[in-house]
Amino acid sequence: MNCYQQYIVPRLTHFAMRQNYLVPFRRRVVGTAEGNVLEIGIGSGLNFPLYGATVTSVIGLEPSSQLLRMADTRASDATVPIRLLNVSAEAIPLDANSIDTVVTTWTLCTIPDAPRALAEMRRVLKPAGRLLFVEHGRAPEPGVARWQDRLDPLWSGLAGGCHLNRKMDDLIANNGFRIDTMLNVRLPGPRTHTFLYEGSARPA
Ligand SMILES: C[S@@+](CC[C@H](N)C(=O)[O-])C[C@H]1O[C@@H](n2cnc3c(N)ncnc32)[C@H](O)[C@@H]1O
Repeated sequence: MNCYQQYIVPRLTHFAMRQNYLVPFRRRVVGTAEGNVLEIGIGSGLNFPLYGATVTSVIGLEPSSQLLRMADTRASDATVPIRLLNVSAEAIPLDANSIDTVVTTWTLCTIPDAPRALAEMRRVLKPAGRLLFVEHGRAPEPGVARWQDRLDPLWSGLAGGCHLNRKMDDLIANNGFRIDTMLNVRLPGPRTHTFLYEGSARPA
């Protein structure tokens, strides 16, 4: 890992993700979490203060040590116990059927082997558990999607491995989940970066 990826990308990630206009999405997703929660790719821990009384505990998983350090300072703002794991989602060191809710917010875009990570999320989820997500991804307009494909190699190099063109509903549904609810929202900003998929899914 070079200096840019190790030191600059975590700071850029925190800056990009702490924007106020993302908070209503975070509140909706995190607000419906229940029981023992596993949050994938916690970044700087911006969701921690939003976990409420329906949540027993949160395990926060994050492969970047720099982001994990930022998240550690924010864990004290939480009203629920938080345990941090410095690991990747492709190999989750938790027992099968041990988690009630998996949360991902703007993370499936960045995980290198997202199908493997989703298989792991499904493994650790209880049969009646839920995956709650808000992610950006492939836009429905063919012209925008073509630009996402063109820009993706450059953007991915600049933005710590984030991909613009993953079709999140297909990714989730093709890797062990049945989508229960899903909403597409367009944020303000460049159309290549602002098409959101927000929803919930259960193990198929
Ligand atoms: C755009 S940031 C989003 C951070 C956070 N979820 C939020 O909402 O602020 C993408 C996150 O995915 C994490 N990530 C990248 N590869 C990962 C992997 N293999 N497993 C888990 N998380 C990963 C990054 O380190 C980063 O924290």
